[in-house]
Amino acid sequence: MRALCWHGHGDVRVDTVPDPTIQHPRDAIIKITACAICGSDLHLLDGYQPTMQSGDILGHENMGEVIELGSEVTNLKIGDRVVVPFTISCGSCWFCRNEFYSACDTTNPNAALAIKAMGQSPAGLFGFSHMLGGYSGGQAEYLRVPMADIGPIKIPEEVTDEQALFLSDIFPTGYMAAEQAQIAPGDTVAVWGCGPVGQFAIRSALMLGAGRVIAIDEIPERLRMAESGGAETLDFSQTDVHEELMARTKGRGPDSCIDAVGCEAAGHGAIDAVIDRLKAATFLATDRVHVLRQAIMACRKGGTVSIPGVYVGMGDKIPIGAMMNKGLTIRTGQTHVQRYTKPLLAKIVAGEIDPSFVVTHPASLEDAPLMYEKFRAKEDGVIKVILRPT
Ligand SMILES: NC(=O)c1ccc[n+]([C@@H]2O[C@H](COP(=O)([O-])OP(=O)(O)OC[C@H]3O[C@@H](n4cnc5c(N)ncnc54)[C@H](O)[C@@H]3O)[C@@H](O)[C@H]2O)c1
Ligand SMILES: [Zn+2]
Ligand SMILES: [Zn+2]
Repeated sequence: MRALCWHGHGDVRVDTVPDPTIQHPRDAIIKITACAICGSDLHLLDGYQPTMQSGDILGHENMGEVIELGSEVTNLKIGDRVVVPFTISCGSCWFCRNEFYSACDTTNPNAALAIKAMGQSPAGLFGFSHMLGGYSGGQAEYLRVPMADIGPIKIPEEVTDEQALFLSDIFPTGYMAAEQAQIAPGDTVAVWGCGPVGQFAIRSALMLGAGRVIAIDEIPERLRMAESGGAETLDFSQTDVHEELMARTKGRGPDSCIDAVGCEAAGHGAIDAVIDRLKAATFLATDRVHVLRQAIMACRKGGTVSIPGVYVGMGDKIPIGAMMNKGLTIRTGQTHVQRYTKPLLAKIVAGEIDPSFVVTHPASLEDAPLMYEKFRAKEDGVIKVILRPT
């Protein structure tokens, strides 16, 4: 089959590789009909995520048609049209039973590597490095889906691929980010990053009762999309973010702050951001935490900082004094996708949201390397790329 493979920092190519096969009775094989490129894939492309190997197939936002089933998968049929959560979860360990699906204790065969880095191992994820399971991703013609009796969700015919696909990741991710932001009715929520995750966080915050959302980015079309989703905007390349947030909240600060940027934050010459870059270049730290610092400093006393943005290793100079003395709550995590797929599909079916608004660039799988470049450079108005293998 054809598949988008990682070959090193900045190097992804579409290669011909062996088709996946059923390896366990709980596996399914799906023929991919649509998949997407995520901001998390950029961290892999940019070499932030350790333990990638040349030839790894990327892609964790996947949907398709079931073409083969292991003997223990009884909830799906050949021909079913499904969306697959990016978190691979067993459904029966303590974490899955408590709906912490991205913390599943059993699906990372390389748990020892993760335990060394993080103290405990999170769940295996599709297309996300060997430390997180070494599972092939779905930017390919076919995908092996482990634990297929737990993850994939059937999609009704009337819902299009473009509407359903983002149940695999970014819609639940934006929604969980807003839920974890602990929004009370009428609250002011600041969202850093108007990429796809930020866009869903903005709309979810409003669905959950926010009175105002202030969306922060520097890319005009992303700010425009945020505005059409109901947010006020703030261009961080033009304005001092902290001062502006204070001014717009009468000196109190936003009630909740959502960091939908993560480890590759741009800093526009801010001194802390320059130090982050130097430290990353000299292996003294891995992550650029400029946005997280801003969020902690701006958040109102007693407020909540919610972090869907991905961090991979060590960050430096996080203002823990501000966090402690202001009594902030910090919530974060890879999304517990299986917790959200059904309720959010119901919202799509009910017409409360149409996630296809975020798609700017439909493309073929063969164009994936070019689309990675454009998405990384934020060129050509790219906000979300959706790839079709055939
Ligand atoms: N928690 C999860 O389960 C989960 C799931 C999906 C994605 N993510 C993460 O969410 C983050 C966003 O993903 P995405 O697909 O939207 O990525 P993206 O790269 O398209 O968007 C990131 C946005 O942040 C903006 N940005 C950069 N520096 C900024 C700054 N200093 N202030 C404000 N905005 C800034 C960029 O201009 C860009 O628009 C990534 O870190 C991704 O890995 C997490
Ligand atoms: Zn993702
Ligand atoms: Zn589990």
